Amino acid sequence: MTETSTNPARILVIFGTRPEAIKLFPVVAALKADPRFDARVCVSAQHRGMLDQVLEIAGITPDHDLDLMRPNQTLDGLTAALITELGRVMDAEQPARVMVQGDTATAMAGALAAYYRKIPVDHVEAGLRSGNIYHPWPEEVNRKIIGAIARLHFAPTQVSRAALLRENVPDAQIHVTGNTVIDALHWVGARIAENPALAGGLADLEARFAGKRIIGVTSHRRENFGDGMENIATAIRTIAQRPDTAIIFPVHLNPNVRAVMNERLAGLDNVALIEPLDYPHFARLLSIAEIMLTDSGGVQEEAPALGKPVLVMRETTERPEGVEAGTARLVGTDSARIVTEIFSLLDDKAAYEAMARAHNPFGDGQSAGRIVDLIAGDIGA
Ligand code: UD1
Ligand code: UDP
Repeated sequence: MTETSTNPARILVIFGTRPEAIKLFPVVAALKADPRFDARVCVSAQHRGMLDQVLEIAGITPDHDLDLMRPNQTLDGLTAALITELGRVMDAEQPARVMVQGDTATAMAGALAAYYRKIPVDHVEAGLRSGNIYHPWPEEVNRKIIGAIARLHFAPTQVSRAALLRENVPDAQIHVTGNTVIDALHWVGARIAENPALAGGLADLEARFAGKRIIGVTSHRRENFGDGMENIATAIRTIAQRPDTAIIFPVHLNPNVRAVMNERLAGLDNVALIEPLDYPHFARLLSIAEIMLTDSGGVQEEAPALGKPVLVMRETTERPEGVEAGTARLVGTDSARIVTEIFSLLDDKAAYEAMARAHNPFGDGQSAGRIVDLIAGDIGA
């Protein structure tokens, strides 16, 4: 298919959760600025409040907002609604391409609905694999489904490229572009430098915890619900007994996370349980934290880029690059292990310094432009 600059190619960018929005806003900006494309944005709103925080900061007004989030939604109910509703949008928009990111239900259903219409799919952040279909669950299978469908696979690193080659994805369809999260991190850093008030909302907390060593925590993985969340809370209670330490924990809006954390951690002197932070404020938390303790995917990429040791509360990771470089460590969800690892970093300067090296295998901040050029090349624009 050939498009000319007078007939820009319509590309439908689909996302639904906070991390997809963070990792796609640089690509949406690059597509919108490019006369070769007519970029349309469809949000499933699989997340509502946490998605809207990103849309606002990034200045994106979606062309379609499916508003699909339901309280404590099930995977099957969500997936069924996504396929039907995203298919309707594709029928209305008739895009030449569909873009999805990562491994959420929205991304998987978007790819599948596009495949049912034989619309080529561009996959941003392709080729991440843990090798275990239950860790992370259901993301490992979601991304394998997208991998089976995608036309262009934008792998963040050579590790992810190699994983796709092992699954017999043709080499010519894989491009190592870096991860767009680094584009997003650079962008937000520049905005904060221009206007520090954008990330000024933590000032009271920073004053309350002045002189203490701050540990930033996030947690939301489905495979950690139940015992995992209880163990994480137990570990935080123990760490918080240290008078030199403070924990800042923006709590994910998922009720399976909030119920446990509110019950186990509310009211502790050294623990601030706060609402999800918008991206500039989360970037501020990354900069004031001495250590990040997380089960998040994106935070595993951002913390090493900023030279912050990151302890990953998972059994496996699809992002081995940080672990191999020594800036990230898998600690699982055993409370005693989490406490030991945190105390070792707090008490052993050499151990801390060994992890606290800025290390950025995930990208150079130029990924979005590369992705747009590669799609344009593929469609002959
Ligand atoms: C989803 C993704 C996961 C991603 C995570 C990022 C799937 C299957 N999971 O998990 O890959 O790492 O997002 O955060 O796609 N909720 C709100 N407000 C919000 C967001 C969520 O109230 O803004 C609550 C709702 O009750 C919702 C529940 O959280 O039903 C679960 O949201 P869902 O998107 O299904 O799963 P996550 O665990 O957020
Ligand atoms: N994040 C944020 N505010 C918060 C917590 C996280 O903006 O309170 C950002 C974080 O910088 C990262 C992304 O959200 O870019 C990670 O999202 P999440 O952990 O929900 O999902 P995952 O990356 O595990 O899919």
